[in-house]
This record gives sequence, C-alpha cells and structure tokens, in this order.
Amino acid sequence: MALTTTLKIYRNNAGKVRMDTFKINKNEIGPMVLDGLIHIKNNVDTTLTFRRSCREGICGSCAMNINGTNKLACLTPIEDKMSIYPLPHMPIVRDLVSNMTNFYKQYKEIKPWLHTSKKDNTIEHIQSIEERKKLDGMYECILCACCSTSCPSYWWNSDEYLGPAVLMQAYRWIEDSRDENTIERMKHLDDAMKLYKCKTIMNCTNTCPKGLNPGKAIGELKLKIENELH
Ligand code: SF4
Ligand code: F3S
Ligand code: FES
Repeated sequence: MALTTTLKIYRNNAGKVRMDTFKINKNEIGPMVLDGLIHIKNNVDTTLTFRRSCREGICGSCAMNINGTNKLACLTPIEDKMSIYPLPHMPIVRDLVSNMTNFYKQYKEIKPWLHTSKKDNTIEHIQSIEERKKLDGMYECILCACCSTSCPSYWWNSDEYLGPAVLMQAYRWIEDSRDENTIERMKHLDDAMKLYKCKTIMNCTNTCPKGLNPGKAIGELKLKIENELH
C-alpha cells in the first residue's frame, strides 16, 4: 500500500473551474476522505471549500461525488488515488459546496412535520409497535441528497420532480399512523412531474450511504396512491 494518497479535487471559484491535485502523506491524516480534505484546508490550501459538521455520517453535510459515486466524505476511506467532485447537476456555491436551496424548498413543500388536531401537547401520540415499524428505513434519512443527485430524472427535472429523498420523506409522513393529513398529502403528490417522473432507475437506492431504499419507498407510495386515491 502506498504511503501517499493523490487527491484530485474539483475547484470552482465564481465559475472559474479547474482540477487541483494534492499528494498527501497518509501517516499525517486520519483514515477518511474528510480527514484528507481537512488536512489540505489546514495545511496546504486554506481556500479549499467544503461542508462538514459531524464527521460521523449523521449530519449529511459532507455529501460529494467521490470516485464517481455520491458518498459521505466522512464515511469513505481514503484510497491511493481519488477524484472528488461536488454532488452532480447541482448549482455550485464554491468548490465542493452545492447550492441546496431548491432541495430544501422541495422538502419544505411536503410539510415534514406531524399534522394533528390534538391541541393538548402533554398527551402522547401513541403508536403500536407495528405502526412504528412502518417508519423504519425512512426516519433514518439524513437528507444528504446523495440519492436525489444520482437520479437522472432529478438531474433533468429538479424544478418540478421532487426526487427520491423528498419523496421518501413524504411517504414517511403518509405512513405515520399519528398523522391526520394522509389523503391531502397523497393528493399533493399525485402529479405527473412531482412523483411520476420517477422511472424506477434505482440509482438512488444504489448510492444511499445510509443503506436506505428510497426507490422502494417511491414504488410503495405510487401503489398506495393508486389503491387509495384512484
Ligand atoms: Fe441521503 Fe439516503 Fe436520505 Fe437519500 S435516502 S437523502 S441518500 S440518507
Ligand atoms: Fe430516480 Fe430512484 Fe426513481 S434513481 S427514477 S428516484 S427509482
Ligand atoms: Fe456529517 Fe459527514 S460530516 S455526515
């Protein structure tokens, strides 16, 4: 195994694009790609720009395209040669930082909170074990956007298609037994662009760094709408 790693990193400053190559001694850094990026920023080039916070796969902010796959830099081990780009087909703020405004606007659109008529905040919203289990595999999503930015339908239609991350969260609230707006939520999604632009390509599921299955969630969502609305 080589003692150095070579990181080729996409740089973009106000539309001026270039690739920079950094050779780093592996003994000077931690084991993950994020450790390499932090090392470069602290010791080699302070202008290198990327997002990170938790460094343990929880905040979702270090999502980027590493060796051709959307991943979390903090969970991706450093290899001898790596190429690092921002998430595909997103507007760039700078270097590896994508503009997430549209993604968050779409998340807001599905009203991702419990809709209930119960006014008394001191009363628990009880679920059975079976009801709670339906949320498994969805509530764990960290909204990193690796899935949505791997989806060709989202690349070409992100102005209207909600994409796998947001659709899985929409379904998470539809499946929540405590929520009282299930029908309204489904009606909002029953749209040729918002939902049916998903063509079951499944890149989303293949790339999710948390091992979730948004492609399956979208399939179940379509079926539920078909059975209960049409
Ligand atoms: Fe990230 Fe997976 Fe959630 Fe998509 S489903 S936003 S890839 S954690
Ligand atoms: Fe895209 Fe996943 Fe559907 S990759 S087309 S959202 S199954
Ligand atoms: Fe939080 Fe990587 S820094 S997920």
